Amino acid sequence: MLGLLAVAVVSAAVLYVLYHWLIPGAVQNSGWLALIWHDVILERVLNFTTGSSRPQRMLKAVQKNATKGDPQSVISAIDYYCRHKEWAMNVGDEKGLILDSVLTEVNPSMALELGTYCGYSSVRIARLLSPNSKLITVEFNPAFAAIARQIIAYAGLQDKVTIVEGPSADLIPKMKERFGLKSFDFVFLDHWKDRYVPDTKLLEECGLLKKGTVLLADNVICPGAPEYLKYVRNNPRYESRYYKSYLEYTKAEDGLEKSVFLG
Ligand SMILES: C[S@@+](CC[C@H](N)C(=O)[O-])C[C@H]1O[C@@H](n2cnc3c(N)ncnc32)[C@H](O)[C@@H]1O
Repeated sequence: MLGLLAVAVVSAAVLYVLYHWLIPGAVQNSGWLALIWHDVILERVLNFTTGSSRPQRMLKAVQKNATKGDPQSVISAIDYYCRHKEWAMNVGDEKGLILDSVLTEVNPSMALELGTYCGYSSVRIARLLSPNSKLITVEFNPAFAAIARQIIAYAGLQDKVTIVEGPSADLIPKMKERFGLKSFDFVFLDHWKDRYVPDTKLLEECGLLKKGTVLLADNVICPGAPEYLKYVRNNPRYESRYYKSYLEYTKAEDGLEKSVFLG
């Protein structure tokens, strides 16, 4: 009996150390471990135990901790939730500062985002747009788009942001006609990484890039977009620069690639 008790106590102690120190330590420093741990394991466990989805939990955190109509408080509430409670694939606070600074420098009239998820980066971008500027953001998962709509409205930015639902490859060719626009001044690529090259080529073919359009691509190191980096770095039509940072809410390297379309 005492033996069994000792085994139970030691097993509980090992599990505790693993869960609170060893796994978080390893996960913080390895991008791939972080993605497997947070995206494959923890998300499923939490979905099962809470009966809700990660986007629904993020929305709840916003409603509980942010102030309606205050985009900065929405961003802070999401960053706090994702650093202290549950990781999520937002661009995050560190790379978010790079996004802010590139966006401020470009000061776009028309901005496009590929990959909305819950609207974190849409809020980041839209809060910095000048009065008549607009952001179009593309998301093919209707459940994510529904949460993003609520988070963007909570931040008071619904008039600046249009969420378009569907696959980027279907929507890009319809942009000019649907929105009566000539081209984009700024494009944030943050959808699935294997779409970065085909969608960039599609934007070129559809005449949606003009001389000076800035493309900013997230996650070029983790999970990584090597084909995209090869494409923009070895292409005389682009002037490209890497901004080193960290995978959102971890200490693993990731970064953003800024590429200016030269026409
Ligand atoms: C990394 S998340 C976007 C994070 C968001 N930009 C942020 O920082 O808050 C990628 C999103 O892109 C969406 N997505 C992936 N491929 C897509 C495609 N081809 N067309 C539209 N949406 C896509 C996914 O459903 C997912 O929500």
